[in-house]
Amino acid sequence: MSALLEVAGVSKSFGPIAAVDKIDLAIGQNEFFALLGPSGCGKTTLLRMIAGFEVPDQGRIILDGIDITGVKANRRPINLMFQSYALFPHMDVAGNVAYGLEMEGVRGAELSRRVDEVLALVQLTALAKRKPAQLSGGQKQRVALARALVKRPKLLLLDEPLGALDKKLREQMQIELKRLQQETGIAFLVVTHDQEEALTMADRIALLRSGRIAQLDAPRALYERPNSRFVADFIGQMNFLDGMRQADGFAVPNLGTFDALNLAEIELGASASLAVRPERVQLYLQEQPGVFAAEIDGLAYLGQDLILHLKLAGRAAPLIARVPAANPQSADFAQGLRVWCDWPAAHSLILSA
Ligand SMILES: Nc1ncnc2c1ncn2[C@@H]1O[C@H](COP(=O)(O)OP(=O)(O)OP(=O)(O)O)[C@@H](O)[C@H]1O
Ligand SMILES: [Mg+2]
Repeated sequence: MSALLEVAGVSKSFGPIAAVDKIDLAIGQNEFFALLGPSGCGKTTLLRMIAGFEVPDQGRIILDGIDITGVKANRRPINLMFQSYALFPHMDVAGNVAYGLEMEGVRGAELSRRVDEVLALVQLTALAKRKPAQLSGGQKQRVALARALVKRPKLLLLDEPLGALDKKLREQMQIELKRLQQETGIAFLVVTHDQEEALTMADRIALLRSGRIAQLDAPRALYERPNSRFVADFIGQMNFLDGMRQADGFAVPNLGTFDALNLAEIELGASASLAVRPERVQLYLQEQPGVFAAEIDGLAYLGQDLILHLKLAGRAAPLIARVPAANPQSADFAQGLRVWCDWPAAHSLILSA
């Protein structure tokens, strides 16, 4: 993969705060890349440096092999789509989309052709004559997107592009953004703090923590092989059972000694947590060899799945299990019921902070 964008050792501080701390990453041509992380971890600051609105204290930003660290924002073949769509209220949809091209001197038939093409792409042809005030949130979002796409940047930066939309529309737009990215072949760098959104759309995700990359991987690897408790906790839901690596396995007080996917990599005597996803917890209505007893201490019906809080002897925090509601045994689950559980060692990991 020859990189479209390279971020090499980039840092930016605001007074004592290291907002971005020596970040290295490379984004491929046509890649859909997501920057994910909790509020204040440095996502917007990194995006603004790539766009050219902020100057790094250190490091270089390279686009298609050319160092653009010192190049002004408006001279970079990069577009930033702001979270607040910043549409011109007095112009109609087509006018909003045409504006950037007109600034570049595009006129006449060429202008109309490019605007029409992009409006069709975001399915707004029928609304071309409407003013922003006459549009829904999702439609405004598509206008902002059309305005960014029409200039045919090599790289499109999107900061929380779906932040203003409700859940249903968000999910619909996630699929649409992905389709648009594939159809246009433009590389997308999307900032979000919504892990599900990143998993749905991105080819690769960089999860940031306090200005640094905690892990950079494809969605599946990030979910299935998190490299720390922080990553495992941020991506999806995870049970953590604290314990210690011993010669015969990972010992969890009051529960037992366990094998895990990465047991061999953990140093003897290390304190850590055994991590198990709720959907990997297996439940039994009868006792079996090698399983442990639990009591159903809470139960939530989510339609597709059932979430169970399992109270284990001698442990304060519940073990959380997620079972498909379609599973026949789920009809028997009730508050106070005694059950037995375990999980496959291959689907558990030993993680530290
Ligand atoms: N102009 C500024 N002056 C001072 N501090 C700033 C400035 N911009 C950002 N910061 C600080 O830098 C850190 C990173 O901010 P940034 O906006 O990049 O976070 P973020 O990951 O985008 O968060 P959010 O998800 O809330 O948008 C924060 O601690 C923030 O308070
Ligand atoms: Mg931000």
